[in-house]
Amino acid sequence: MAQTVLITGTGRPYALGFNLVRRYLEAGDTVFASIRKPSEALEKLAQSCPERLHILHMDIASTESVNAAAREAVGITDHIDLIINNATTASADTMKELPDFDLDEIAPAVNVGAVGPVRVVKAFLPLLKNSEIGGLIVNISSEAGSIGACERTFYLDYGTEKAALNMLTKTLHNYLKQEPDVNIICVHPGWIRTNPGNTEAPLDPYEHAETLRALFETKRHDKTGPIFITYTGETYPW
Ligand SMILES: NC(=O)c1ccc[n+]([C@@H]2O[C@H](COP(=O)([O-])OP(=O)(O)OC[C@H]3O[C@@H](n4cnc5c(N)ncnc54)[C@H](OP(=O)(O)O)[C@@H]3O)[C@@H](O)[C@H]2O)c1
Repeated sequence: MAQTVLITGTGRPYALGFNLVRRYLEAGDTVFASIRKPSEALEKLAQSCPERLHILHMDIASTESVNAAAREAVGITDHIDLIINNATTASADTMKELPDFDLDEIAPAVNVGAVGPVRVVKAFLPLLKNSEIGGLIVNISSEAGSIGACERTFYLDYGTEKAALNMLTKTLHNYLKQEPDVNIICVHPGWIRTNPGNTEAPLDPYEHAETLRALFETKRHDKTGPIFITYTGETYPW
């Protein structure tokens, strides 16, 4: 059955969000793809299926922007079946250790990478609750957000925002116990070649988007299984 999907952070053709959009469109679904700045690649994709790809402008750092995008979506659809919180950020200092890292970069990163997804959930939850197949929220996290497995001395911003995203996912999972037809998980998606300069990563974004799409479907009604998982579906340590 075709579904309606919201995906954030979809403007970069080489990155995961854009390739998830491609995969859901190929599966026959309707996609709300959010960007914070114009994307030629996404515009071009929308021309090929204007009825099924809706571009929303949404800066997830801003509650006002997210709420405005949700109001726009309500004018187009009465439901959403899947929210994929893919957008994230990291500062220019992300690879630096404590002495060289500008600590003032941490709070803005958490505002985007952890609070941003929850802004999206809060604003779009009424649409998700209208899903007839059961609503699913997928927060794209990272192994870098695992406190238990952390051995790094850098990623002070990125690791913190993903750890905070994991905590918020668990808290919302508890909250959503009162909604039997809505589930939420967070996923380490694997190391993907989403940066044109990075040829080392083993996973191709277009190929891997299909693996993730299949995985997400196994989690739609799985409210008792692991919440923080890897792209193979295995549990990952908080
Ligand atoms: N790539 C990997 O190997 C890997 C590994 C583990 C986890 N992940 C996670 O997987 C997801 C996708 O990764 P990626 O490498 O494809 O990401 P990416 O290339 O860094 O793309 C991030 C996206 O988020 C958007 N974004 C940033 N700030 C935003 C804001 N304030 N409001 C709205 N959108 C904003 C960016 O938009 P602009 O284009 O406008 O900047 C961009 O489209 C991320 O959550 C990442 O943490 C990736």
